[in-house]
Amino acid sequence: MKKIIIDADPGIDDSIAIMLAAGLSHFDILGITIVSGNVCVDKGAVNALRLSKFLKKDFNIYKSNPNPLVKELINAEDTHGEDGLGETYLPYEDREVKDGAVDFIIENLKKDEVTIFALGPLTNIARAMEKDIDAFKCARIISMGGNFKSFGNMSPVSEFNYYVDPEAADYVIQNSPNPIEIIPLDVTRKFVLTPNIIALMKSINKDVADFLENITNFYMDFHLKYENIIGSVINDPLVIMAHEFPEYFAKEKYHADVVCDGKARGMLMVDEKDFLKKEKNIILYRDIKTFPVWKNFIEILTAGEVDEEMLERIL
Ligand code: RIB
Ligand code: CA
Repeated sequence: MKKIIIDADPGIDDSIAIMLAAGLSHFDILGITIVSGNVCVDKGAVNALRLSKFLKKDFNIYKSNPNPLVKELINAEDTHGEDGLGETYLPYEDREVKDGAVDFIIENLKKDEVTIFALGPLTNIARAMEKDIDAFKCARIISMGGNFKSFGNMSPVSEFNYYVDPEAADYVIQNSPNPIEIIPLDVTRKFVLTPNIIALMKSINKDVADFLENITNFYMDFHLKYENIIGSVINDPLVIMAHEFPEYFAKEKYHADVVCDGKARGMLMVDEKDFLKKEKNIILYRDIKTFPVWKNFIEILTAGEVDEEMLERIL
């Protein structure tokens, strides 16, 4: 079994990533730690409970200090809806969600080799590193965040997760004992969930596809308005897919910093030409083979089989 922790700000695409992880039987999901981002931690925790109910999985869920290390808290309810799940207000079992996400991360990293799927701002990871950096000696961290050659989604140069808490992103990148693996918008923008893909999924597993359609409708409207596309960029699931299918992704090691203040706040500044001659502290994903990733993505979520010719036609 592969021990994993999902640190997330659910969030529509975070939720799809959690659905994927739950569909992989070799994952031992130690827990879901909630960070403020798309919505504040309290709403994120409720959405984790909603997924727990839909997936019939009794996840360990932990909340955290809702505030970024330095910056004022902001959210993305304009993109993910007031409830953070496309204003679907799905049912959930109202059980207590404990605080203590940071200590949960540290305790589990000290016990085992754990992979952290970081799907939101890196606030919890940074606080855990500040508290016990040695715990991270054997940890693998794959983060959805940043943008390289592609435009940002919070400013011309910055992506939401790293914009919300740039100090946390920079702290994690500069202090992690192992290079942080980063999947930027450059890659995720190539992976767009369209109505045709949802229709194909309905032909395999209607319940899962209906759930996916239900939580992404609001998201699709946002994408039509602001990214001028029919469909939605589902960023976070690619963190899971990159872990499972590395052969379908291209990546490079670089030195990077995150700009914390001023006009470029949140920018992942990648030293592509090794100008600074500094240690290469990130592994940046650069490209994706979308066909095989879509095929496996759909098959994991639906627990069914994809007709490859049909998929070719709709991609
Ligand atoms: O910029 C996209 C990222 O910010 C995704 O992780 C999304 O869920 C939000 O957290
Ligand atoms: Ca997220």
